[in-house]
Amino acid sequence: MITEVITYIKTCFQSKISSEARAFGHLYESISLVQREKRCSSYWLPHRTMCKNFIEKETKLVMKKGFSNKKVLVLGSGPLHEIPVEFLAGNFERVDLVDVVHLPETKKQWEHLTNLNFINADVTELETDLLREKKPISKIPTAFLNENYDLVLSANLLSQLAYHLRNFLEKKSSPKLTERELDLFAHQVTENHFLYLKKFRCPVLLITDIETHLIDKHGQLVQKETPYIDFSFPSPVEEWWWNVAPIPEYSKKLSVKMKVAGFVLNV
Ligand SMILES: C[S@@+](CC[C@H](N)C(=O)[O-])C[C@H]1O[C@@H](n2cnc3c(N)ncnc32)[C@H](O)[C@@H]1O
Repeated sequence: MITEVITYIKTCFQSKISSEARAFGHLYESISLVQREKRCSSYWLPHRTMCKNFIEKETKLVMKKGFSNKKVLVLGSGPLHEIPVEFLAGNFERVDLVDVVHLPETKKQWEHLTNLNFINADVTELETDLLREKKPISKIPTAFLNENYDLVLSANLLSQLAYHLRNFLEKKSSPKLTERELDLFAHQVTENHFLYLKKFRCPVLLITDIETHLIDKHGQLVQKETPYIDFSFPSPVEEWWWNVAPIPEYSKKLSVKMKVAGFVLNV
C-alpha cells in the first residue's frame, strides 16, 4: 500500500498523466497492478506465457496468409507483461502501444527498442465527456481505424473498460442511476469495444477473460460471475485459466480464477 502511494506521487511529478487517468483511478490501478504482479508472479506466469504464445502463434499464421507486417497496434498495452514485445518489434516496422497509462518504468525497460511508440489514450473515447456530463454515453470508438494497421491486438482490456467508468457514474451521476442503468451502461461500453475491433480492416487478436470463479479453501466453486458481456463472440481459438488471486490476495477464505479466451477476428 505504501509502495503504491509513493509510486503514485512520484509518477504524477515525473510523467504527463491526464486528469482522466487520475479521476477514473487508472493511475492508481496501473501502479497496484505492477505490485500485484510482483506478489503473484508465479501464479500469473502461466497466463502471461499463454498470452505471449497465442499472440506469436496467431501473428505468424496471419503473416503466412499474406497480410503485411508494417504496423501493429496494441490496445491495453499497460505494463507489457502479456505482450511478446521483442517478437513484435522484430517482426513489424512499427509497434504502437496504446493505454490510458504507461508507467515510466515500462518505457525505461523497453527504450532500447526504437520502433515502439507509447501512446496514452482512452480507448473508450468516453472519459472526457463523462467527466464533464456525469451521465451515461454510448459511442463506438473511431481512433486508429483509418491508420492502415496490419494487425491489432486487444490484450486483456475488454473486461476492464467498464469497471472504472461504472464506479465513477455510481458515485457522481445526478440524478443517481439505478443498478440496472449502471449495468446497462457497463454492457454497452464492453460491447462497443468489441464492435470497434470488428471495424478494423485487418486481423484482430482479442484476449479477454470471459468468466470469474470464486473458490473456497477446499477447492469448491462458491460463485461464478461473467464480466459485462451479453453479446455473442465467435468461437475462441484457445482458452486457459488464470489464477488471478490465490488466498489471501483477494480474501482469507476465497481465491479467484478467471477463464481467459483468445479470439481471432476479421479473417
Ligand atoms: C489487465 S491490464 C492489461 C495488461 C497488459 N495487456 C500487459 O501486457 O501487461 C488492463 C489495462 O487496460 C488499461 N485500460 C483500462 N481502461 C482503459 C481505457 N479506457 N483506455 C485505455 N486503456 C485502458 C489499464 O490501464 C491496464 O493497463
